[in-house]
Amino acid sequence: MPQKVIIDCDPGIDDSLAIMLALSMPEEIEVVGITVAAGNAPVEMGYGNALKVLKFMGRLDVPVFMGADRPLKRDFVNALDTHGSDGLGESFLPQVPEEEYERQEMNAVQFMQETLQREPVSVIALGPMTNLAMLIEKAPSSFGKIQEIVSMGGTFRSHGNCSPVAEYNYWCDPDAAALVYGEMDRLGRKIHMVGLDVTRRIVLTPDLLDYMKRLDPHTGAFTQKITKFYFDFHWQWEHLIGCVINDPLAVAYFACRDLCKGFESYVQIETKGISLGQSIVDSMNFYRHAPNAIVLTEVDTIRFFELFFTRLLRMEEKPDLLPVLCR
Ligand code: RIB
Ligand code: CA
Repeated sequence: MPQKVIIDCDPGIDDSLAIMLALSMPEEIEVVGITVAAGNAPVEMGYGNALKVLKFMGRLDVPVFMGADRPLKRDFVNALDTHGSDGLGESFLPQVPEEEYERQEMNAVQFMQETLQREPVSVIALGPMTNLAMLIEKAPSSFGKIQEIVSMGGTFRSHGNCSPVAEYNYWCDPDAAALVYGEMDRLGRKIHMVGLDVTRRIVLTPDLLDYMKRLDPHTGAFTQKITKFYFDFHWQWEHLIGCVINDPLAVAYFACRDLCKGFESYVQIETKGISLGQSIVDSMNFYRHAPNAIVLTEVDTIRFFELFFTRLLRMEEKPDLLPVLCR
C-alpha cells in the first residue's frame, strides 16, 4: 500500500528530480500534494517550476500550493547561482498555462492543516522548512499528526555548502529548522535527517546521464536539460565531474529505508552567529537528552542509482546495469 506524502520543496533542480522520482514510485508513494517555499528560487518561481515538472510527468492532477515567500525571521537568500536564473537550470521551459491546471485557493499551510485533519500523511521536506514551522505556529496539533518527516537538510560530519558548517536548507531558514527540531523533541518524535553526509555520495555523473538518455531518451533528455547548468556549477566551484542530486535521496530513503544507515541523536539547529544554520548533532549524548532525530550517515550509492533508474526510467530490474554504476 503506497504511503501518502506531501512533498514540501523549493524547486530547484534536485527538487524537480525528486518530484519525478516520487511520481515514478506509485507502489511506494502517493503524492497527495506539493507545497512550495522560498528557497533555491523565489516561491512564485518554485511554484511555476513544480508545475513544469508535473506537466513533463503528465501529472498536472497533483495539486501545488504556494507557501512561504521568505524565512521566518532572516532575510531571504535564494540559491539561483546554483540553480540558474529560472531556478531550473536555465532550461527556460515555458510556464504551464493556467487553463492546464487547477489553481488552488488554499496556501501551503492551510493545505497541510486540512489534509492532516483528514488522513495520516508524511512529509518529505526538500527545502527550507518554513512551511512546516508556520504549521507549528498556526496549528501545532496538525503538525503532531504528521506520520513521519524526512528532511533533506543539515550535516553531521560533512562540510557545509553555505558556510563551513551549514547546509543550505537549514541555513536559509534556521529559525524554521530549529522550531521543527524543537517541536519534534517536545513531541518525543524523531525527524529523519538526510544530510550532506549521505547526499554528497549521490553524484549524477556524465556517464550515468548518458546511460539515462540511452535507456529512456525522453526522460534522459529532460534530465539533461535541467541539469546542464548544475553540472557546470559543480565543476566551476568544486571541480566535481557530475552534480550532487541531494533531494532524490530523501525520496528514495522514504520509500526504501535500508538504502541508508545512521543513528538516533539529539539535534539542535543554531539560529545565530558564525555557525548559523548548523545542525548540532549530539552524537556522544553530551546533554543526556532523548533523541529527536535519526541522522543518516551511510548510503548504498549503487542501490540508489539502481532504484533511480528502474523507477524513473520505468525499466525492468537490469543486473547488467550495475557495471555502469560502479565509478
Ligand atoms: O543543500 C542542498 C539542499 O538545498 C537541496 O535541497 C537543494 O535543492 C537546496 O534546497
Ligand atoms: Ca531543495
